[in-house]
Amino acid sequence: MLDDDTTTPSTGTGARPRIRIDTTKPHSARFWNYFVGGKDNYEVDREIGDHIKEIFPGLVDVAVTSRHFLGRAVRYLADEQGIRQFLDVGTGLPTADNTHEVAQRAAPDARIVYVDNDPIVLAHADALLASTPEGRTVYLNADLYAPEAILEAAAGTLDLTKPVALMILNTLGHVADYDQARDLVGRLMAGLPSGSHLVISDSTATSEGMIAASEAYNASGAVPYYVRSIGEIAGFFDGLDLADPGVVQVPEWRPGPGPTDPAPAVDAYCGVGRKP
Ligand SMILES: C[S@@+](CC[C@H](N)C(=O)[O-])C[C@H]1O[C@@H](n2cnc3c(N)ncnc32)[C@H](O)[C@@H]1O
Repeated sequence: MLDDDTTTPSTGTGARPRIRIDTTKPHSARFWNYFVGGKDNYEVDREIGDHIKEIFPGLVDVAVTSRHFLGRAVRYLADEQGIRQFLDVGTGLPTADNTHEVAQRAAPDARIVYVDNDPIVLAHADALLASTPEGRTVYLNADLYAPEAILEAAAGTLDLTKPVALMILNTLGHVADYDQARDLVGRLMAGLPSGSHLVISDSTATSEGMIAASEAYNASGAVPYYVRSIGEIAGFFDGLDLADPGVVQVPEWRPGPGPTDPAPAVDAYCGVGRKP
């Protein structure tokens, strides 16, 4: 587990600034890392994590099944849709089966651009940059609130005249205003051509436990996270052709044999949509 509050990160561009990690309040990437069983978190993240596990143990199932969804969605896009370019916004801390590992197992020439705005993710970016020789992975320290800047920087690695899968998993709840979240997703998709895909998963206000967990997290001093309705998750896909089975509970999206088989019911929904 981490015990130092400064670190020397790699950006994949050769720049190695010394950055400061805030250990006084929980951070989303580190909190989520704790929930998926990782070690890259601090006492402050584990404290609120343990409190939330007590009031709503189901959040662990959300975190774990969402990572499995990432794997199924990327394999579907690479194997069945021929996607070779992935833009993963709100990457989080590296864990098992990151987007580039799943994608490059299916298609070694796949290119992946990771985007996050948390210095701790930047500090661990090396683990996201171990590309196959045929493909490429890049990490951008950039902000979801600046979609055009993300697209401009991603164009250094991705060919934005060819289809891209935009992945935003368990991140859009950080944008408090739903219309603004829709606008940010729309502006990212607007920069991608026909045949591109949108992949979203997010927690939903579908149980009292999840609502209580969200309230406890938001009272912790962390950047707040707002859980949405199923209809709001579905709304992100307006104008896109939804892949079967549509917007469903995370474990129900094209389930396959897996470590959580049979999968638990979770308060989180997901979908994959294709830009016509
Ligand atoms: C709950 S984690 C999800 C990580 C990963 N996508 C997953 O599903 O396992 C949310 C991530 O979004 C990132 N994030 C939050 N606000 C962001 C913003 N404005 N721009 C870029 N990344 C952001 C956080 O730093 C964190 O890594």
